[in-house]
Amino acid sequence: MKQDTKIVSAGRRKEWTNGSVNPPVQRASTIVFDTVKDMKHAIVNRANKTLFYGRRGTSTSFAFSEAMCELEGGVGCALYPCGTAAITGALLSFLKAGDHLLMVDTAYEPTRDFCNKILTGLGIETTYYDPMIGAGIKELIRPNTRVLFLESPGSNTMEVQDVPTLSRIAHETDITVILDNTWGSGINFKPFDYGVDISVQAATKYIVGHSDAMMGTATANEKHWPTLREHSYLLGQCASPDDCYMALRGLRTLSVRMKQHEQSALTVANWLKAHPAVKSVLHPAFDDCPGSEFFKRDFNGGNGLFSFVLNGGDDASVNKFLDSLEHFKMGFSWGGFESLVLRVNGLDYLRTAKPWAEKNPVIRLHIGLEDVEDLIDDLSQALEHVS
Ligand SMILES: Cc1ncc(COP(=O)(O)O)c(C=O)c1O
Repeated sequence: MKQDTKIVSAGRRKEWTNGSVNPPVQRASTIVFDTVKDMKHAIVNRANKTLFYGRRGTSTSFAFSEAMCELEGGVGCALYPCGTAAITGALLSFLKAGDHLLMVDTAYEPTRDFCNKILTGLGIETTYYDPMIGAGIKELIRPNTRVLFLESPGSNTMEVQDVPTLSRIAHETDITVILDNTWGSGINFKPFDYGVDISVQAATKYIVGHSDAMMGTATANEKHWPTLREHSYLLGQCASPDDCYMALRGLRTLSVRMKQHEQSALTVANWLKAHPAVKSVLHPAFDDCPGSEFFKRDFNGGNGLFSFVLNGGDDASVNKFLDSLEHFKMGFSWGGFESLVLRVNGLDYLRTAKPWAEKNPVIRLHIGLEDVEDLIDDLSQALEHVS
Protein backbone atom coordinates (compact mmCIF):
# COMPACT_ATOMS: atom_id res chain seq x y z
CA MET A 1 0.00 0.00 0.00
CA LYS A 2 1.32 3.44 -0.93
CA GLN A 3 1.79 6.04 1.81
CA ASP A 4 -1.10 8.31 0.74
CA THR A 5 -3.51 5.37 0.85
CA LYS A 6 -2.16 4.22 4.18
CA ILE A 7 -2.62 7.50 6.03
CA VAL A 8 -6.27 7.71 4.98
CA SER A 9 -7.18 4.46 6.71
CA ALA A 10 -4.41 3.96 9.32
CA GLY A 11 -5.85 3.19 12.76
CA ARG A 12 -9.39 2.87 11.43
CA ARG A 13 -10.47 -0.33 13.18
CA LYS A 14 -14.21 -0.98 13.39
CA GLU A 15 -13.95 -1.79 17.09
CA TRP A 16 -12.76 1.81 17.62
CA THR A 17 -14.87 3.66 15.04
CA ASN A 18 -18.18 1.79 15.49
CA GLY A 19 -18.53 1.91 11.73
CA SER A 20 -18.07 5.64 11.20
CA VAL A 21 -15.07 7.01 9.31
CA ASN A 22 -13.60 8.68 12.39
CA PRO A 23 -13.46 7.25 15.89
CA PRO A 24 -15.72 8.98 18.40
CA VAL A 25 -14.07 11.13 21.04
CA GLN A 26 -14.21 8.65 23.88
CA ARG A 27 -13.72 10.57 27.11
CA ALA A 28 -13.09 8.42 30.15
CA SER A 29 -11.33 8.22 33.45
CA THR A 30 -13.13 5.16 34.79
CA ILE A 31 -13.81 2.10 32.72
CA VAL A 32 -16.34 -0.20 34.40
CA PHE A 33 -16.36 -4.01 34.29
CA ASP A 34 -19.38 -6.23 34.85
CA THR A 35 -17.53 -9.34 35.86
CA VAL A 36 -14.26 -10.35 37.50
CA LYS A 37 -13.39 -12.18 34.28
CA ASP A 38 -13.81 -8.99 32.20
CA MET A 39 -11.69 -7.02 34.63
CA LYS A 40 -8.94 -9.63 34.63
CA HIS A 41 -8.92 -9.58 30.83
CA ALA A 42 -8.46 -5.80 30.89
CA ILE A 43 -5.65 -6.04 33.44
CA VAL A 44 -3.75 -8.60 31.39
CA ASN A 45 -4.19 -6.62 28.15
CA ARG A 46 -3.94 -3.09 29.54
CA ALA A 47 -0.74 -2.30 27.65
CA ASN A 48 -2.22 -3.61 24.45
CA LYS A 49 -4.92 -1.16 23.36
CA THR A 50 -7.61 -2.60 25.61
CA LEU A 51 -9.89 -0.35 27.68
CA PHE A 52 -8.63 -0.44 31.28
CA TYR A 53 -8.34 3.06 32.75
CA GLY A 54 -8.53 6.49 31.07
CA ARG A 55 -4.85 7.26 31.51
CA ARG A 56 -4.00 4.15 29.48
CA GLY A 57 -6.07 5.47 26.58
CA THR A 58 -9.44 5.00 24.92
CA SER A 59 -10.48 4.11 21.39
CA THR A 60 -9.60 7.64 20.16
CA SER A 61 -6.01 7.48 21.36
CA PHE A 62 -5.66 3.84 20.32
CA ALA A 63 -6.62 4.82 16.76
CA PHE A 64 -4.22 7.78 16.68
CA SER A 65 -1.23 5.93 18.12
CA GLU A 66 -1.76 3.01 15.74
CA ALA A 67 -1.94 5.45 12.82
CA MET A 68 1.35 7.07 13.93
CA CYS A 69 3.02 3.65 13.93
CA GLU A 70 1.79 3.02 10.41
CA LEU A 71 3.07 6.43 9.33
CA GLU A 72 6.50 6.22 10.94
CA GLY A 73 7.03 2.45 10.90
CA GLY A 74 7.44 1.70 14.62
CA VAL A 75 5.75 -1.01 16.69
CA GLY A 76 4.30 1.25 19.41
CA CYS A 77 3.61 4.94 19.94
CA ALA A 78 3.35 6.69 23.32
CA LEU A 79 1.29 9.87 23.41
CA TYR A 80 2.10 13.02 25.36
CA PRO A 81 0.37 16.36 25.91
CA CYS A 82 2.96 18.21 23.78
CA GLY A 83 6.15 17.64 21.82
CA THR A 84 8.39 18.80 24.65
CA ALA A 85 6.86 16.18 26.96
CA ALA A 86 7.56 13.52 24.32
CA ILE A 87 11.22 14.60 24.12
CA THR A 88 11.75 14.69 27.87
CA GLY A 89 9.73 11.48 28.38
CA ALA A 90 11.83 9.61 25.83
CA LEU A 91 15.09 10.89 27.35
CA LEU A 92 14.03 9.99 30.89
CA SER A 93 13.07 6.49 29.72
CA PHE A 94 16.62 5.64 28.66
CA LEU A 95 18.84 7.67 31.02
CA LYS A 96 19.66 7.29 34.70
CA ALA A 97 22.09 8.87 37.17
CA GLY A 98 25.69 8.47 36.04
CA ASP A 99 24.80 8.18 32.34
CA HIS A 100 26.12 10.32 29.53
CA LEU A 101 24.01 11.83 26.73
CA LEU A 102 25.18 12.99 23.31
CA MET A 103 22.90 15.84 22.23
CA VAL A 104 22.98 17.55 18.85
CA ASP A 105 24.11 21.18 19.10
CA THR A 106 21.21 22.35 16.90
CA ALA A 107 18.49 20.93 19.15
CA TYR A 108 15.25 22.77 19.80
CA GLU A 109 16.01 25.26 22.59
CA PRO A 110 13.78 23.71 25.31
CA THR A 111 15.42 20.30 24.64
CA ARG A 112 18.76 21.92 25.40
CA ASP A 113 17.35 23.66 28.47
CA PHE A 114 16.03 20.32 29.75
CA CYS A 115 19.52 18.81 29.50
CA ASN A 116 21.17 21.78 31.20
CA LYS A 117 18.59 22.43 33.89
CA ILE A 118 16.98 19.05 34.70
CA LEU A 119 19.26 16.23 33.53
CA THR A 120 22.30 17.85 35.15
CA GLY A 121 20.48 17.83 38.48
CA LEU A 122 19.72 14.12 38.04
CA GLY A 123 23.41 13.32 37.59
CA ILE A 124 23.21 12.88 33.81
CA GLU A 125 25.92 14.62 31.81
CA THR A 126 25.34 16.03 28.32
CA THR A 127 27.91 16.60 25.57
CA TYR A 128 26.76 18.70 22.62
CA TYR A 129 28.03 17.60 19.22
CA ASP A 130 28.32 19.27 15.82
CA PRO A 131 25.36 18.11 13.66
CA MET A 132 27.85 17.51 10.81
CA ILE A 133 30.13 15.29 12.91
CA GLY A 134 29.19 12.08 11.06
CA ALA A 135 31.53 9.18 11.87
CA GLY A 136 33.49 11.50 14.20
CA ILE A 137 30.80 10.85 16.82
CA LYS A 138 32.82 7.76 17.75
CA GLU A 139 35.40 9.92 19.52
CA LEU A 140 32.75 11.43 21.81
CA ILE A 141 31.34 8.11 22.96
CA ARG A 142 32.23 7.17 26.54
CA PRO A 143 31.70 3.88 28.37
CA ASN A 144 28.64 5.43 30.09
CA THR A 145 27.08 7.00 26.95
CA ARG A 146 23.54 5.65 26.82
CA VAL A 147 21.64 7.92 24.40
CA LEU A 148 22.46 9.68 21.13
CA PHE A 149 19.87 12.38 20.39
CA LEU A 150 19.40 13.79 16.88
CA GLU A 151 17.29 16.53 15.39
CA SER A 152 17.43 16.73 11.62
CA PRO A 153 17.26 19.25 10.07
CA GLY A 154 18.50 21.31 13.02
CA SER A 155 16.27 23.90 14.66
CA ASN A 156 16.38 27.24 12.81
CA THR A 157 19.67 26.64 10.96
CA MET A 158 18.58 23.47 9.08
CA GLU A 159 21.75 21.32 9.09
CA VAL A 160 20.80 17.81 7.93
CA GLN A 161 22.42 14.93 9.82
CA ASP A 162 23.85 11.68 8.44
CA VAL A 163 21.34 9.61 10.42
CA PRO A 164 22.34 6.12 9.17
CA THR A 165 26.05 6.66 9.96
CA LEU A 166 25.31 8.09 13.42
CA SER A 167 22.86 5.26 14.21
CA ARG A 168 25.25 2.55 13.04
CA ILE A 169 28.06 3.83 15.23
CA ALA A 170 25.77 4.28 18.25
CA HIS A 171 24.51 0.72 17.91
CA GLU A 172 28.06 -0.69 17.97
CA THR A 173 28.00 0.01 21.72
CA ASP A 174 24.25 -0.44 22.26
CA ILE A 175 23.48 3.28 22.56
CA THR A 176 19.82 4.21 22.08
CA VAL A 177 19.19 6.57 19.15
CA ILE A 178 16.38 9.11 19.61
CA LEU A 179 15.43 11.49 16.78
CA ASP A 180 13.28 14.61 16.93
CA ASN A 181 11.48 13.93 13.63
CA THR A 182 9.11 16.90 13.79
CA TRP A 183 10.43 18.47 10.57
CA GLY A 184 10.37 15.13 8.70
CA SER A 185 6.94 14.49 10.28
CA GLY A 186 6.96 10.79 9.37
CA ILE A 187 5.92 11.54 5.82
CA ASN A 188 9.20 12.92 4.52
CA PHE A 189 11.60 10.99 6.72
CA LYS A 190 11.13 7.34 7.71
CA PRO A 191 13.18 7.10 10.91
CA PHE A 192 13.23 3.33 11.33
CA ASP A 193 14.65 2.79 7.84
CA TYR A 194 17.73 4.75 8.94
CA GLY A 195 18.48 3.04 12.25
CA VAL A 196 16.57 5.28 14.66
CA ASP A 197 15.23 3.51 17.79
CA ILE A 198 12.73 6.15 18.92
CA SER A 199 11.19 8.87 16.78
CA VAL A 200 9.76 11.82 18.67
CA GLN A 201 7.45 14.39 17.15
CA ALA A 202 5.80 17.59 18.18
CA ALA A 203 2.53 16.51 16.56
CA THR A 204 1.48 20.03 17.50
CA LYS A 205 3.09 21.00 14.18
CA TYR A 206 2.28 19.24 10.88
CA ILE A 207 0.31 16.27 12.24
CA VAL A 208 -2.33 18.44 13.92
CA GLY A 209 -1.66 20.92 11.11
CA HIS A 210 -4.24 23.56 12.05
CA SER A 211 -2.60 25.38 15.00
CA ASP A 212 -5.37 24.40 17.38
CA ALA A 213 -4.05 21.57 19.55
CA MET A 214 -0.87 20.45 21.33
CA MET A 215 0.32 16.85 21.08
CA GLY A 216 3.52 14.82 21.35
CA THR A 217 4.33 11.34 20.06
CA ALA A 218 7.21 8.92 20.63
CA THR A 219 7.21 5.94 18.30
CA ALA A 220 9.59 3.07 19.06
CA ASN A 221 11.02 -0.02 17.42
CA GLU A 222 10.44 -3.49 18.87
CA LYS A 223 13.50 -3.49 21.13
CA HIS A 224 12.73 -0.12 22.75
CA TRP A 225 8.93 -0.10 22.88
CA PRO A 226 8.47 -2.03 26.17
CA THR A 227 10.76 0.35 28.10
CA LEU A 228 9.33 3.48 26.47
CA ARG A 229 5.75 2.37 27.09
CA GLU A 230 6.38 1.45 30.72
CA HIS A 231 8.25 4.67 31.53
CA SER A 232 5.68 6.79 29.79
CA TYR A 233 2.97 5.26 32.00
CA LEU A 234 5.10 5.55 35.13
CA LEU A 235 5.69 9.23 34.41
CA GLY A 236 1.93 9.66 34.19
CA GLN A 237 1.95 10.77 30.57
CA CYS A 238 -1.20 10.65 28.49
CA ALA A 239 -3.08 12.79 25.96
CA SER A 240 -6.63 14.09 25.93
CA PRO A 241 -9.04 12.21 23.62
CA ASP A 242 -10.19 15.51 22.12
CA ASP A 243 -6.63 16.34 21.08
CA CYS A 244 -6.05 12.79 19.79
CA TYR A 245 -9.12 13.28 17.61
CA MET A 246 -7.74 16.57 16.25
CA ALA A 247 -4.35 14.98 15.58
CA LEU A 248 -5.88 12.01 13.78
CA ARG A 249 -8.02 14.31 11.66
CA GLY A 250 -4.96 16.39 10.78
CA LEU A 251 -3.00 13.27 9.89
CA ARG A 252 -5.48 12.34 7.16
CA THR A 253 -4.53 15.39 5.07
CA LEU A 254 -0.85 15.54 6.00
CA SER A 255 0.42 14.38 2.65
CA VAL A 256 -1.44 16.87 0.46
CA ARG A 257 -0.72 19.74 2.82
CA MET A 258 2.95 18.85 2.89
CA LYS A 259 3.27 18.85 -0.90
CA GLN A 260 1.83 22.36 -1.09
CA HIS A 261 3.96 23.63 1.82
CA GLU A 262 7.06 22.21 0.14
CA GLN A 263 6.32 23.64 -3.29
CA SER A 264 5.43 27.12 -2.04
CA ALA A 265 8.41 27.19 0.34
CA LEU A 266 10.79 26.32 -2.50
CA THR A 267 9.28 29.09 -4.64
CA VAL A 268 9.73 31.63 -1.85
CA ALA A 269 13.21 30.35 -0.94
CA ASN A 270 14.40 30.65 -4.55
CA TRP A 271 12.93 34.14 -4.80
CA LEU A 272 14.66 35.19 -1.56
CA LYS A 273 17.95 33.80 -2.79
CA ALA A 274 17.98 36.34 -5.61
CA HIS A 275 16.90 39.28 -3.42
CA PRO A 276 19.59 41.92 -2.69
CA ALA A 277 18.54 42.21 0.98
CA VAL A 278 19.18 38.50 1.53
CA LYS A 279 22.66 37.13 2.21
CA SER A 280 21.83 33.43 2.24
CA VAL A 281 18.90 31.02 2.47
CA LEU A 282 19.06 28.12 4.93
CA HIS A 283 17.01 25.42 3.23
CA PRO A 284 17.90 21.68 3.30
CA ALA A 285 17.24 21.30 -0.43
CA PHE A 286 19.86 23.92 -1.34
CA ASP A 287 23.39 22.71 -2.05
CA ASP A 288 24.97 25.26 0.30
CA CYS A 289 22.99 23.91 3.29
CA PRO A 290 25.24 21.65 5.41
CA GLY A 291 24.05 18.07 4.91
CA SER A 292 21.94 18.78 1.80
CA GLU A 293 23.45 15.57 0.32
CA PHE A 294 21.80 13.63 3.19
CA PHE A 295 18.54 15.46 2.59
CA LYS A 296 18.61 14.39 -1.07
CA ARG A 297 19.59 10.84 -0.14
CA ASP A 298 17.24 10.17 2.81
CA PHE A 299 14.19 12.47 2.64
CA ASN A 300 11.10 12.07 0.44
CA GLY A 301 10.53 15.82 0.34
CA GLY A 302 10.46 19.01 2.34
CA ASN A 303 7.91 21.25 4.04
CA GLY A 304 7.22 24.93 4.67
CA LEU A 305 9.90 25.71 7.27
CA PHE A 306 13.25 27.31 6.48
CA SER A 307 15.32 30.35 7.42
CA PHE A 308 17.29 33.09 5.74
CA VAL A 309 20.06 35.50 6.69
CA LEU A 310 19.64 39.20 5.96
CA ASN A 311 22.38 41.12 4.23
CA GLY A 312 22.53 43.53 7.12
CA GLY A 313 20.03 45.67 8.91
CA ASP A 314 19.96 47.14 12.37
CA ASP A 315 17.35 46.15 14.95
CA ALA A 316 15.07 49.03 13.99
CA SER A 317 14.94 48.08 10.30
CA VAL A 318 14.49 44.37 11.08
CA ASN A 319 11.63 45.28 13.40
CA LYS A 320 10.12 47.43 10.68
CA PHE A 321 10.38 44.49 8.26
CA LEU A 322 8.59 42.23 10.75
CA ASP A 323 5.92 44.80 11.58
CA SER A 324 5.24 45.52 7.88
CA LEU A 325 4.35 41.96 6.94
CA GLU A 326 0.66 41.42 6.36
CA HIS A 327 0.35 37.68 5.70
CA PHE A 328 3.22 36.54 7.93
CA LYS A 329 2.37 36.99 11.59
CA MET A 330 4.95 36.41 14.30
CA GLY A 331 4.45 33.15 16.16
CA PHE A 332 6.56 30.42 17.74
CA SER A 333 4.95 27.23 16.51
CA TRP A 334 4.84 26.12 12.87
CA GLY A 335 3.25 23.40 10.78
CA GLY A 336 -0.21 24.94 10.64
CA PHE A 337 -1.87 26.14 7.42
CA GLU A 338 -0.80 29.73 8.02
CA SER A 339 2.41 31.55 7.18
CA LEU A 340 4.58 32.72 10.07
CA VAL A 341 7.75 34.72 10.63
CA LEU A 342 10.18 34.81 13.52
CA ARG A 343 13.48 36.52 14.13
CA VAL A 344 15.86 33.86 15.45
CA ASN A 345 17.73 35.16 18.47
CA GLY A 346 20.41 33.64 20.66
CA LEU A 347 22.26 31.48 18.13
CA ASP A 348 25.51 32.84 19.58
CA TYR A 349 24.83 31.16 22.94
CA LEU A 350 22.64 28.28 21.67
CA ARG A 351 25.53 26.73 19.73
CA THR A 352 28.48 25.51 21.78
CA ALA A 353 29.96 22.54 19.86
CA LYS A 354 30.37 24.68 16.75
CA PRO A 355 29.88 28.39 17.42
CA TRP A 356 27.49 30.24 15.10
CA ALA A 357 29.77 32.62 13.19
CA GLU A 358 27.07 34.56 11.30
CA LYS A 359 26.49 37.99 12.80
CA ASN A 360 23.65 39.14 10.52
CA PRO A 361 20.00 38.74 11.52
CA VAL A 362 18.44 35.32 10.89
CA ILE A 363 14.74 35.12 10.01
CA ARG A 364 12.71 31.91 10.13
CA LEU A 365 9.71 31.56 7.85
CA HIS A 366 6.90 29.06 7.82
CA ILE A 367 5.28 29.07 4.40
CA GLY A 368 1.60 28.32 4.75
CA LEU A 369 -1.12 27.44 2.26
CA GLU A 370 -1.86 31.00 1.08
CA ASP A 371 -1.27 31.86 -2.59
CA VAL A 372 2.47 32.01 -3.01
CA GLU A 373 2.35 35.19 -5.13
CA ASP A 374 0.64 37.02 -2.26
CA LEU A 375 3.36 35.79 0.09
CA ILE A 376 6.15 36.96 -2.21
CA ASP A 377 4.49 40.37 -2.70
CA ASP A 378 4.24 40.68 1.07
CA LEU A 379 7.90 39.81 1.64
CA SER A 380 8.90 42.11 -1.19
CA GLN A 381 7.24 45.20 0.30
CA ALA A 382 8.51 44.40 3.81
CA LEU A 383 12.10 43.81 2.67
CA GLU A 384 12.17 47.39 1.37
CA HIS A 385 12.84 48.35 4.97
CA VAL A 386 16.10 46.44 5.11
CA SER A 387 17.31 46.88 1.54
C1 LIG B 1 11.72 20.70 16.46
C2 LIG B 1 10.74 20.86 17.58
N1 LIG B 1 10.64 19.87 18.48
C3 LIG B 1 9.78 19.97 19.51
C4 LIG B 1 9.00 21.08 19.70
C5 LIG B 1 8.09 21.16 20.90
O1 LIG B 1 6.77 20.98 20.61
P1 LIG B 1 5.61 21.48 21.60
O2 LIG B 1 5.47 22.93 21.38
O3 LIG B 1 4.44 20.68 21.17
O4 LIG B 1 6.05 21.15 23.00
C6 LIG B 1 9.07 22.11 18.78
C7 LIG B 1 8.21 23.33 18.93
O5 LIG B 1 8.45 24.35 18.35
C8 LIG B 1 9.97 22.00 17.69
O6 LIG B 1 10.13 23.00 16.80
